[in-house]
Amino acid sequence: MRGMWSEAESGNVGPSVSTGPSASQGRGLSSASGARICASCATPSTDAANFCSQCGAALPGVSEPQRAERRYTSILFADLVGFTELAERTDAEDMRELLSGYFALCRSTIESLGGVVEKFIGDAVMAVWGATRTREDDAERAVRAALELTKVVGDYGRASALGAFAVRVGVVTDEVAVVLGAAGEGMVTGAAVNLAARLQAAAAPATVLTDAHTRTLTVDRIDFGRETRIDLKGIADEVSAYPALRVISETGSGAAPAAEILTNLVGRDAERDVLIESFDRVVATGRPHLAVVSGSAGVGKSRLVLELRDHLDHVPMAIMWHSARCLSYGDGVAYSALSSAVRSRIGAVEGESETVALGRLRTKLVSWTSAGDAQTADLDWMCERIAPLLGADVAGAPLLNSSSAGYGRHEFFAAWSLWFERMSAGENAPVVWVIEDAHWADDSLLDFVQHLQRTNPAPILIVIVTRPELLVRRPDLGAGDGATQLELGPLDEESIVALIAGLAPELPRDILRLLSARVGGVPLYARELLRSLVDDGLLQDTADGLRLAPGVSAGTLAMAEPPASLRVLIASRLDSLESGPRLVAQLASVLGFSFSMSALAAVSRRSARELAGDVSTLETRGILISITDPLSSERGQYVFSHPLIRQVAYEMQSRRSRSERHLATVDFLESSPDEGSRSAAVIAQHLVDALHLQTAPSASTESAARRAVHWLLAAADSARRLGAATAARRLYEQAIDMWPLANPAGRDADGRTVRDLEELAREVTTS
Ligand SMILES: Nc1ncnc2c1ncn2[C@@H]1O[C@H](COP(=O)(O)OP(=O)(O)OP(=O)(O)O)[C@@H](O)[C@H]1O
Ligand SMILES: [Mg+2]
Repeated sequence: MRGMWSEAESGNVGPSVSTGPSASQGRGLSSASGARICASCATPSTDAANFCSQCGAALPGVSEPQRAERRYTSILFADLVGFTELAERTDAEDMRELLSGYFALCRSTIESLGGVVEKFIGDAVMAVWGATRTREDDAERAVRAALELTKVVGDYGRASALGAFAVRVGVVTDEVAVVLGAAGEGMVTGAAVNLAARLQAAAAPATVLTDAHTRTLTVDRIDFGRETRIDLKGIADEVSAYPALRVISETGSGAAPAAEILTNLVGRDAERDVLIESFDRVVATGRPHLAVVSGSAGVGKSRLVLELRDHLDHVPMAIMWHSARCLSYGDGVAYSALSSAVRSRIGAVEGESETVALGRLRTKLVSWTSAGDAQTADLDWMCERIAPLLGADVAGAPLLNSSSAGYGRHEFFAAWSLWFERMSAGENAPVVWVIEDAHWADDSLLDFVQHLQRTNPAPILIVIVTRPELLVRRPDLGAGDGATQLELGPLDEESIVALIAGLAPELPRDILRLLSARVGGVPLYARELLRSLVDDGLLQDTADGLRLAPGVSAGTLAMAEPPASLRVLIASRLDSLESGPRLVAQLASVLGFSFSMSALAAVSRRSARELAGDVSTLETRGILISITDPLSSERGQYVFSHPLIRQVAYEMQSRRSRSERHLATVDFLESSPDEGSRSAAVIAQHLVDALHLQTAPSASTESAARRAVHWLLAAADSARRLGAATAARRLYEQAIDMWPLANPAGRDADGRTVRDLEELAREVTTS
């Protein structure tokens, strides 16, 4: 993509195109203490900043004189077809409601792909990519948003009962004048804005027209129709325009964790080819395939999957990609990897109501169903059985309506399997479902995976990524027809040498060999070792990779104390942190692999502003990564750069501290209905851990145990309703174990007695 150049001009660059509510206003927030916090990604900023250093969004209260820059941006214009006519035959109040729904839909579609809504003009929308921060794939994001708009607005019209409803969309990528420092109207001006509006007007209803430049930038990811010449009076005689037809790679970019510098893949070409062949087989046979990638911590499993994704990104075909992680928190969170796959496909947003999520589910299913089709009859049946996967299973918000409480597990499996089948047929695309960290998977989820693999008639590649212990528990997983087991062992020394050389290209060969001999073929070990040498000031991080620090000789590096093991190395890196960041890493590790800033603030009893310095130290040290990719469902959250780092940070704390921190996490989760990771099973597990870690009963033991029983029962009931028998039984049994602590006098809890629970535990086992 062409780079931007920023020749500054002074003053405002002229009037905006039109009036209307400005979307860019109010994008920033101030914290109570006065720090400016970005509304897009919650990153605190210094007083001097105008734009968020993390994501580029405008911050509030910018008082600098306006400045214009010239930048390459992609501009989208969308307009409702037949709006005037619709307005004439519709009651004004209904119309207002309809329009506000339409605006909200446009905004969420555009923002979910990283665009900024510049303004609404009557019924038209203008949005911009790249105004404050240039991304390599701005043009692609804009075209994807345009195509998505034609779809979602059509669906919205059909659902509103007002009949045909369509947008036309124009997308142009070009240099424009951007007024920086003005968070409102007229931010972007130039001929490109006009051209986008004209292309939109020339597009047929429910279609997208782009200019030639946008097409050139996106042609390997978007399918385009034939060139049309459009007469644009007043702009030029004629310009070339291209209809964008569909996204040919659904996977998008940004698969790699934001902060990881990926070196070339070394020594795993054969394994990579096995995964690619599995995908090719799925496409050729139209049938499911299960690939199980196993290996010890840090050996390169997730990286291999990243390679598959990268390969598929360049395959000229639509692919429905899903990647989901099993929660370290207990098998009790049954089906979490399935529910996050469904949530990401329907575009569900953390914290939105169950009703909204159900609406999205139905819309998606309808879009995969041809009208008048016999399939329409299944819609309600499917919705009811998929709905529990979307529910926030907290007390007082029952997952299922009473009529559905009696479904057996086979009914859920049938409906969920049909979900994948409909998706594949409706999108005319193969499906990929990656389940990361499957050593934490619940048995019921694995049962479903095998059900899908053996009975589904659609092209679905399921990739299970796991540490080896899962295969001890489930040796049949990935065995037999339609399945592949891929076991990753340590890399050979040459590969590790190549890996280290990729990160530190100037190190002499004998030093490369010496370092590689220390890491036992584990790539994560190699990376962590280099990081520790940076922490110790022996290596320096430069734009050309890692180099010997001034005054350090290769000999000094050779003398550096070899770490005893990967865990010891990670522990010593964490130990070498100042007390502030070290404490933050420890607190975060109790929260989980990924966590929000508000959760961290709550358990550390500090404001986000106070935490900012420590968090950013952890980012520079490669311990935490902030997720800024707008395509990620974890956007705005922080994750540990590797699961093993979280594990070590967790294990290095005293039992007592861990116990107290689990309780603090529960206090936070119980009081935060919108927190994404809040579920009965997660809260219950924090309480169970807190109690198990207590060496002696304390004043709070009884009340903690009572809360634990309460949440365990809620989690058990919801697992039972979903037919997750193993999880349900274990949760009931945990509640029974907890009973004497919670009810020393033998009373009932939540209206139930221990007998009831024993009965339920028996019942789920035999059902
Ligand atoms: N073959 C390889 N070539 C280059 N880099 C690699 C290779 N394999 C792994 N890496 C890098 O090593 C690190 C650890 O790999 P990865 O995260 O894939 O391990 P993992 O097996 O998934 O570990 P875990 O079980 O803890 O999740 C990552 O930074 C990854 O990019
Ligand atoms: Mg991994």
